[in-house]
Amino acid sequence: MVRTMFKAASLGAAALFAVAVAGDVQAQPKNQADCEKLYKPTVGQSGKDVVWVPTPDELVRRMLTMAKVTDKDFVIDLGAGDGKIAIAAAKAPFSANSLGIEYNPDMVKLANCMVQVEGVPSKTKVIQGDIFKEDFTKADVITMYLLPELNLCVRHRILGMKPGTRVTSHQFTMGDWKADETAEIEYRNAYLWIVPARVAGAWTFKDSGSMQFAVNLTQTFQEIAGDVTLANGKQPLVGATLRGTDVRFAFNDDKGNTRTFTGSVKGAQLVGTLRAPNGPEVAVTGTLQGQPRAGEWATMLSQCGRFYGK
Ligand SMILES: C[S@@+](CC[C@H](N)C(=O)[O-])C[C@H]1O[C@@H](n2cnc3c(N)ncnc32)[C@H](O)[C@@H]1O
Repeated sequence: MVRTMFKAASLGAAALFAVAVAGDVQAQPKNQADCEKLYKPTVGQSGKDVVWVPTPDELVRRMLTMAKVTDKDFVIDLGAGDGKIAIAAAKAPFSANSLGIEYNPDMVKLANCMVQVEGVPSKTKVIQGDIFKEDFTKADVITMYLLPELNLCVRHRILGMKPGTRVTSHQFTMGDWKADETAEIEYRNAYLWIVPARVAGAWTFKDSGSMQFAVNLTQTFQEIAGDVTLANGKQPLVGATLRGTDVRFAFNDDKGNTRTFTGSVKGAQLVGTLRAPNGPEVAVTGTLQGQPRAGEWATMLSQCGRFYGK
């Protein structure tokens, strides 16, 4: 389906260009100037919810590098403009499949013409659509250069995507969802977030023998904390972290030895190892008791209703 869409878009851009330059000798766009015969945008021109300003090339590369984009990924740029992020994602060294969603139909024509010029029509396309209506949840990586309020109003949908999805934004943050990584290039910022798995709840851990302990986790975005209950009572977890599906925490066992759990969420289980300093690594599995606790932090903010016709 996506492949068919790519093909249709490529043929569409080529045909449009051929019509636009009818009378010229060339039938295929060769460069940006050719594409700007279809439509020449102006930096700062208004858009549906945000104006068009392109992200500088170096920052585009940095955003895609931060997100560790590879040829296994499907990248979606929200508000794609002239398609430059989607195109860069499709080209080496990233070589991903990608898609741009852009509201302005003229920008879409220009972007798909640039897709031709850059030689990546089999890997990318830009579609006309509204980011508040289109489904972008199949992406492995989301890129965006929008506005703080727009970021906040797509945030709940991003948080509903599969854990481990990477999100990178030029310039604007996501409110109280702190970035996992930040970079600065010539006074411009790039931010990266990793969609966290839902881990809040009561977990019972067991190894293959008789060891057993209970962990209670609380969560706000990727920040987790909690306590562990052992034979000698309850104590707070130390250094609990969550990155995508990867969980780590430590505690002191009954003998006062620090034990570190490292593992990852697999459905309703936390599968990993427990290690004591200078001691053996023991395989342990945690099982969630009941459902993961709902997270207020992952719900739509009240001011966002207007973008969704509510
Ligand atoms: C700041 S530009 C960023 C362009 C590109 N992502 C880049 O970084 O070079 C934002 C783009 O979003 C588009 N846009 C604004 N509101 C939109 C909406 N609701 N849905 C899709 N695109 C939108 C604008 O037309 C503009 O091209």
